[in-house]
Amino acid sequence: MDIRNGPSAAIYAHIVGWGMAVPDGVLSNADLEAIVETSDEWIRTRTGIRERRIAGERDSTASLGLRAAQRALDVADLHPTEIDLIIVATSTPENIFPSTASLIQHWLGATKAGAFDLSAACSGFVYGVEMAAQAIRAGGIQTAVIIGAETMTRVLDWQDRGTCILFGDGAGAVVLRASPTPGGVLSSVLRSDGSGSDLLGIPTVGSEDLRHSDFHVQNGHRLGKMFMNGGEVFKFATRVIGESITQALDKAGLTLTDVSLIVPHQANLRIIQAAARALKVDSDLFVSNLDRYGNTSAASIPIALCEAIEQGRVKDDQHIVFVGFGGGLTWAAMVIKWTGARPPEPGASTLIKQQRRQASYLWARWQTQLRRLNRRISDFLARFLPIQRQKPDQD
Ligand SMILES: CC(C)(COP(=O)(O)OP(=O)(O)OC[C@H]1O[C@@H](n2cnc3c(N)ncnc32)[C@H](O)[C@@H]1OP(=O)(O)O)[C@@H](O)C(=O)NCCC(=O)NCCS
Repeated sequence: MDIRNGPSAAIYAHIVGWGMAVPDGVLSNADLEAIVETSDEWIRTRTGIRERRIAGERDSTASLGLRAAQRALDVADLHPTEIDLIIVATSTPENIFPSTASLIQHWLGATKAGAFDLSAACSGFVYGVEMAAQAIRAGGIQTAVIIGAETMTRVLDWQDRGTCILFGDGAGAVVLRASPTPGGVLSSVLRSDGSGSDLLGIPTVGSEDLRHSDFHVQNGHRLGKMFMNGGEVFKFATRVIGESITQALDKAGLTLTDVSLIVPHQANLRIIQAAARALKVDSDLFVSNLDRYGNTSAASIPIALCEAIEQGRVKDDQHIVFVGFGGGLTWAAMVIKWTGARPPEPGASTLIKQQRRQASYLWARWQTQLRRLNRRISDFLARFLPIQRQKPDQD
């Protein structure tokens, strides 16, 4: 599917808020030496990763995603009831259903929002931003929150040194908002090649060759655990990064010389360096923070974006590029014109708005308890009190 913002389009989708959240727990390469036969030296030279964050007992995909979304709303200075749509890109959802997005929608108190999870592995965040931008440009919605959230360390096979050294946990989010000002999401390219579904994946309950007796799938992949053919994924990634960036720039009527920053999926430093060589650009054009977080799948691009903004690397009117790739196989590139969104100046009105948001989060928690209690009481009354139950076919 190719996407271009038409010349007559009057509505643009701008990033007006961003936030990230990572667990406190750090798993260093030295820690991994105690788990599998590997070394800090091997991991650093083959991947660029030094450490990654690991979810603790109280962390989950939804709780990390919630914190990232709350921070993004603070920057956007919006109340949760102003959100129309919440998309959570994840490969490690809380459940098959209900969606992680629905949990976050409720915890935010985003009572007017639709919510769903999006499965496009490490490309999921870019897919999500494009889906929301389309909905905004079509006039269907005004405000969307797109979250990439993962607890990858919970789906790793800790005996497989080829995969368990690569991944980490975390979440990042952006708020996308309609505006008549030209800019924001300019173009994107979304692609998929399911013939590579045997290269990278996490089998789950719908898998056709699931053997229920031992909870393994027939080709040796473990249910709920990641498998990967690292070499093939490496080749695929280095090929599609350059290709898709060029295609997305072409759609926006731009070239690489117009680009100030590329925020790639953080899988492997060598992949980023190979992509830079293929595009004949300095690798400094690419944001890289995987030395501290490893591969956080759908969360890696928004986390890298947040850090780039924090470091002052994203400036008004610059063109920046997101590029993601991963399981599916899927890949996606997007060109954005950054239009100067910045956190609100601290002041009385900002403080009041922040407190209203906090009240919304608290109220949402209480509502959960109240609604569940209410259901229990209704159920109890219906069972034990002589209440005339209405039959469905009666008026
Ligand atoms: C996984 C990856 C780091 C492996 O690096 P590589 O240079 O291709 O290494 P190889 O798989 O060829 O393995 C080389 C050797 O190191 C060994 N090895 C593999 N993992 C190791 C580890 N963690 N520690 C030490 N040795 C390891 C292999 O067994 C192999 O040994 P051998 O030569 O005796 O057979 C690399 O292929 C990669 O990053 N691929 C992309 C993965 C990815 O990004 N996936 C997510 C995409 S979203």
